[in-house]
Amino acid sequence: MKPRVFSGIRPSGRLHIGNYFGAIENWLKLQDEADCIFAVVDYHGMTTPYDPKEMMKEKYEVVLDYLAAGIDPKKSTLIIQSQVPEHTELAWILGTITPVSWLERVPTYKEKVALHPEYINLGLLSYPVLMAADILIYKSDIVPVGEDQLPHIELAREIAGRFNKMFGKTFPLPKEALTKGARIMSLDDPTKKMSKTGGGGILLSDTPEEIWKKLAPAVTDPARKTINDPGNPEICNIYSLHKIMSLPEQIKMVADSCRHAKFGCLECKKILAKNIADEFEDFRKKRKELEKDPERVQKILRVGAEKARQLASETLAEVKKKTGLG
Ligand code: AMP
Ligand code: TRP
Repeated sequence: MKPRVFSGIRPSGRLHIGNYFGAIENWLKLQDEADCIFAVVDYHGMTTPYDPKEMMKEKYEVVLDYLAAGIDPKKSTLIIQSQVPEHTELAWILGTITPVSWLERVPTYKEKVALHPEYINLGLLSYPVLMAADILIYKSDIVPVGEDQLPHIELAREIAGRFNKMFGKTFPLPKEALTKGARIMSLDDPTKKMSKTGGGGILLSDTPEEIWKKLAPAVTDPARKTINDPGNPEICNIYSLHKIMSLPEQIKMVADSCRHAKFGCLECKKILAKNIADEFEDFRKKRKELEKDPERVQKILRVGAEKARQLASETLAEVKKKTGLG
């Protein structure tokens, strides 16, 4: 039997290169080796401020990005989380065995509370319980995500372990799969991760011109004031991106040219901009085609939800039996 893989992304805008190199790159690899389910997690998207009028559009944008990036509906199951109600049903049950103290110490909860003190809701606190349910409802073995999700996966493992102990072995203990670019930093402020809401991100659908507009002013080695100063690539965010995006000989060349002040930061960024634009050229084409065919996208989601509900309802029936719900 192939391992089961689950992952999801919130519907908060088009995907950026952090999402791609942090998570999607692994999804593409895993869809050839495992039984994958990928979701747009709209219930999670409701835990922080959002615009209900934009929600449908935002979900659709993420699905288009998945498909254009190469998630193949013939290999993987694609779903919108709220179309598979078994997730939230299992989340309730798992919530009854999850100590509140486990949830209060989750770093993303504390971050969100600081960011939106006016929006501290129960859904935000129980966010990791729903995430555990997303994963466990399919008895998933592997969860490909970026590094920032590790505390959530650990909690999903703890919840699965606790359930197994209380009601008998039911769930495998899920493990994360990380890429080598598991944490891509913001172009505006490399001390923060690239994010959809915080700016400083390059979208997969950005045109070569848009990519350049974002890269040109991006922060580099702050100590390098002029072209004639030697730079330190090891502390430069642009160099970190080169290490993920560029060819080995280019990586060597840019590091050497920076260290010995053979070229300026703009020159270095131009090479990176071209590499990013080339890497996502197919993506941009494919996305344009998909944008013209909403019916095809709807059908993919309908088929996905049907398949996922079948799997999910089997797990839910087992859980209900074991927990005395019948
Ligand atoms: P989000 O956009 O926060 O819903 O994240 C969706 C997926 O992309 C998750 O697996 C994240 O861990 C991953 N991700 C988001 N931002 C980054 C980043 N800057 N670097 C690496 N991975 C990221
Ligand atoms: N918390 C994840 C994020 O912000 C999204 C998510 C929800 C998820 N449920 C999941 C990721 C299940 C992996 C598995 O990116």
